[in-house]
Amino acid sequence: MTLAEWMKQAEALQQQVVDWRRHFHRYPELSFQEVRTSAYIAEQLESFGGLELSRPTPTSVVARLIGSRPGKTLAFRADIDALPIQEENRFEFVSQNPGVSHACGHDSHAAILLGAAKILAGQKKRIAGEIRFIFQHAEEQVPGGAEQLVEAGVLDGVDAIYGLHLVSWIETGKIGVIAGPAMAGNDAFDIIVRGTGGHAAYPHQSVDVISTAAQVITNLQHIVARRLDPLDRAVLSLTQIHGGTSYNSFPEELKISGTFRAFDQEIRDKMPGMIRQVIEGVGAAHGAVCELDYRYGYRPLVNDAQLVEDVREVAAGFFGKEALQEMKPVLGAEDFSAYLQKVPGAFIYVGSRNEEKESHYPHHTPRFTVDEDGMDTGLKLLLLLVDKWQRAFR
Ligand code: NI
Repeated sequence: MTLAEWMKQAEALQQQVVDWRRHFHRYPELSFQEVRTSAYIAEQLESFGGLELSRPTPTSVVARLIGSRPGKTLAFRADIDALPIQEENRFEFVSQNPGVSHACGHDSHAAILLGAAKILAGQKKRIAGEIRFIFQHAEEQVPGGAEQLVEAGVLDGVDAIYGLHLVSWIETGKIGVIAGPAMAGNDAFDIIVRGTGGHAAYPHQSVDVISTAAQVITNLQHIVARRLDPLDRAVLSLTQIHGGTSYNSFPEELKISGTFRAFDQEIRDKMPGMIRQVIEGVGAAHGAVCELDYRYGYRPLVNDAQLVEDVREVAAGFFGKEALQEMKPVLGAEDFSAYLQKVPGAFIYVGSRNEEKESHYPHHTPRFTVDEDGMDTGLKLLLLLVDKWQRAFR
């Protein structure tokens, strides 16, 4: 069967892919709780025939398509979890699970990968090596499902891996991919500022953690502004501050929380020390004691240059050069980076923005949805990549 015939099959499967996506959309499940979602995926994969299924963790599914000839192994990953966000869309397949919704589009990723598995499952004879389909749980919650799956050995024997994400910041029909560092590592931290508490009328008799915290906050911004190389991209954002209960007394302590993101692992390694130096110094200057709890999140996501080039080549060849979207790295994070620690791969953005269809809302917001035509682009792109990969062994 030729590539043109695969593409025809993808078109014939469009409605089925839409139906799968709407099913997932109706019944969203939170990270690590994708019981129903993963059971449904396994059931569908089983029905295709020709795939070896396994469940490396309770809510993930891996399907292996072993080809008829020796060759290399290409893996694809789709994340399948939803978010703790109340959906505000009004179409007929809205979330039936109050307070939970597919506000990042992972419903569409699962549907696309099911589509690819269904088409390729019938192609065993044409396939050299192996195609592995990884339906991953818990992308949205650190430590992330990817790390667990890597530990469970899902990459054993894998030579390369691709993942894709439908995004509402690229128009439907376009594809974006970046060689090298593409997404940041995302770390989280809490700072406790301890003072003595006391009456607001007599500040000289106490250590005021509120005004000390104000100094801590401004001084922390100097880390990115003054201590890091301006050419190294990084961001430190403080996102929570909690403390105090009254109008006329200082609290004994106060908590400041935030996130640090960078593309460079060495910078991340240095960050807890740099933050500690600032907060301990500022705290001491005002008689307060500051403590830091720093937790590393997902690693920076670094795409393989050759595999990115392959994406550009097949996408430009089939969809046209104008389908390639110019892109800059972003300081968002993705646990797909865990796979890239082990094997070369690339994470691809597939456009699903269409204002007429109201699929232009930002990810992780109550009105987010995908333009389902973007799933057609995604499915065809996966088939093009399999075809390109297979040509190498002919
Ligand atoms: Ni996502």
